[in-house]
Amino acid sequence: METGCEPCIELGIISQEELTKTAERLAGCLNEGDIVILSGEIGSGKTTFTRGIVKGLGCNPLVVTSPTFTLMNVYVCEKTVFHVDAYRLGSMEEIFYVLESELEDGDGIFIIEWGERLREFFKDEVINVHFEHFDEFRRKVSVQARGNVLDRIRRCLEIAEKIE
Ligand SMILES: Nc1ncnc2c1ncn2[C@@H]1O[C@H](COP(=O)(O)OP(=O)(O)OP(=O)(O)O)[C@@H](O)[C@H]1O
Ligand SMILES: [Mg+2]
Repeated sequence: METGCEPCIELGIISQEELTKTAERLAGCLNEGDIVILSGEIGSGKTTFTRGIVKGLGCNPLVVTSPTFTLMNVYVCEKTVFHVDAYRLGSMEEIFYVLESELEDGDGIFIIEWGERLREFFKDEVINVHFEHFDEFRRKVSVQARGNVLDRIRRCLEIAEKIE
């Protein structure tokens, strides 16, 4: 696959099924304390990807809803997942207010839809999965992270793919 986003991992131009499968694989590569920022335009697959992660952690993906009316959704799976939507939360202050104690404890995986503007703040721990519409049924997906985190994910995804 061509790499237009060095340093990053291109996950390809993928269907919803493939996107879910990839998210399931990524779930096995995540550690407690990881902050996964999902970026990309409306309807590009951020919540769908979250469902895949939750499925990969042994929960029913249908428990995942867009956190529109709740400040934060919490899914207690093999690891706990804290799911927020930065677009709906608004200001940075509001986002930190909602996440503060959970971030301090770091006892789970953080998934932040529309969280791109938080990248600068979190820096080191951040795993940014970016989604672009390719056409109605396919999305172009890539992962960016700090060098050693990216290496860890790349290796882990390769192994997961091989053992399937
Ligand atoms: N390849 C694909 N990957 C993910 N979703 C797809 C794909 N093809 C079609 N879809 C559809 O696109 C929509 C993606 O919606 P989803 O809620 O996951 O996006 P989102 O990025 O979370 O949107 P929002 O910005 O409103 O939070 C769903 O209706 C899904 O069925
Ligand atoms: Mg969403």
